Amino acid sequence: MKKRIYITRKIPGEIKSLLEQDFTVDMWHEEHIPIPKNILKEKITQCDGLFCLLTEEIDAKLIEHAKSLKVISNMAVGFNNIDVETATKYGIAVTNTPGVLTETTADLTFALLMATARRIPEAEQYLRSGKWETWSPMLLTGQDIWGATLGLIGLGRIGTAVVKRAKGFGMNVMYTSRTQKPEVEEQLDITYKRLEDLLQQSDFICVMTPYTKETENLISTEQFNLMKKNAILINTARGGIVNEQALVEAIQTKKIWGAGLDVFASEPISKDDRLLQLPNVVTLPHIGSASIQTRMRMAKLAAENIKKVLLGEDCDYILNPDFKNGATST
Ligand code: NAP
Ligand code: GLV
Repeated sequence: MKKRIYITRKIPGEIKSLLEQDFTVDMWHEEHIPIPKNILKEKITQCDGLFCLLTEEIDAKLIEHAKSLKVISNMAVGFNNIDVETATKYGIAVTNTPGVLTETTADLTFALLMATARRIPEAEQYLRSGKWETWSPMLLTGQDIWGATLGLIGLGRIGTAVVKRAKGFGMNVMYTSRTQKPEVEEQLDITYKRLEDLLQQSDFICVMTPYTKETENLISTEQFNLMKKNAILINTARGGIVNEQALVEAIQTKKIWGAGLDVFASEPISKDDRLLQLPNVVTLPHIGSASIQTRMRMAKLAAENIKKVLLGEDCDYILNPDFKNGATST
């Protein structure tokens, strides 16, 4: 009997077909409505492989239910939505899609930085709403990007790709990260700083770490108090790394100048959220990796990961520490 795969959202037909070559595939057929938890709870008990998105919280309760499950394949690089520890306890592999989205997410991060610094959405809105009467000296003035100092928190794949873009714009770049990287420092001409120093010295602060117990609320009141008055915070990593209440307060009291956010503590953010009332906060609906090409690459990689684990082949993207892929192709 073929192994069974459940896909938690409508994905492109060619990726589904790729899985149908070897497996029996079932799918939640909605594109813009997440699968309800009760349906996921039922489906997860009936499959060997789960293809899921970052919108699904695959917690201990769900995993404990999933007696036949061998692999959870997340179509994302971030995997804070999955309880990897519990999955490991039950011998279930967890995989993600790193690398294929790095450059696309770095593009969006830099676009958001520029849009926030130069008030592009606000300026567009100003023009479209008929307010534009004349050129005037200080109309819609923002912050310079060229020559400014960018402080990166987290220097992994995407962080490093952002540095390359910043260098092209003549920025001075510093970083802080879990591990210091002297070779990258030399190669890209960047400087390592302690978090506190980076916060005090940067004009732009860009959050590029995963969301973990260690990074939760990493940027809160204490950190905003250290920032420059002209500082702009950019977050394309995960919402929970920045304390949103502290961010609203920092902007309202002019402790910092602005923020660009692609991610939020709770997604989708409510249309009444205070963050959406602030003109110098640019907000996007979690579109960091959203180019057609990259989303196809991510879906393909997520499908390949599930396939490799279920067919007992080596898979490079297993996240469980010391996991031995013991699956067989029968
Ligand atoms: P990565 O290569 O693993 O880079 C993460 C970096 O963060 C690493 O340099 C890591 O240090 C550092 N780090 C981890 N914990 C830290 C801590 N407590 N303090 C300081 N630095 C810490 O990951 P990536 O591929 O660049 O992706 C980063 C994150 O971006 C993902 O986890 C995801 O949440 C987010 N993301 C968002 C979008 C979007 O659509 N907005 C798209 C893609 C990714 P080490 O070098 O020591 O490991
Ligand atoms: C997107 O947020 C990802 O983690 O891939």
